[in-house]
Amino acid sequence: MDKFALHEKAKEARKLSYSPYSHFAVGAAVLTKSGEVFLGANIENSAYPLCMCAERNALYNAYMHGFKKEDLVALALSADTDGPCSPCGACRQVISELFPKDAPIYMGNLKDNIQETTISELLPFAFSGEDLE
Ligand code: THU
Repeated sequence: MDKFALHEKAKEARKLSYSPYSHFAVGAAVLTKSGEVFLGANIENSAYPLCMCAERNALYNAYMHGFKKEDLVALALSADTDGPCSPCGACRQVISELFPKDAPIYMGNLKDNIQETTISELLPFAFSGEDLE
């Protein structure tokens, strides 16, 4: 699956967003080595800190189906933003734990602008499990 197809999956996931408070719907899609795609959308809550982002839901979805960091090859996210939608800081920390450091992340929007990056670029000097040793 190429980046355009994965971007379309992220846009499809976005339609499942539950975002009655921010009215900002985000979708994400994680691609595995074996070609499966796991979707996530942001799911909000009236107790605002409980809101969960699309990227984290997509990664947790992949993990809940038995996939791990080494099985994942690409991540796409999309929202109705001017430029490509960038993952929030909390998602960057989770991505750095659960997703390969040099695998492509496609930041996109509804105008089909797509910018490719990696978690190494988005979160240099990340805190990790190694810091706890
Ligand atoms: N949101 C995401 O789903 N991903 C991000 O990386 C940025 C923010 C969601 C959280 C909240 O539901 C809404 O967008 C507004 O912040």
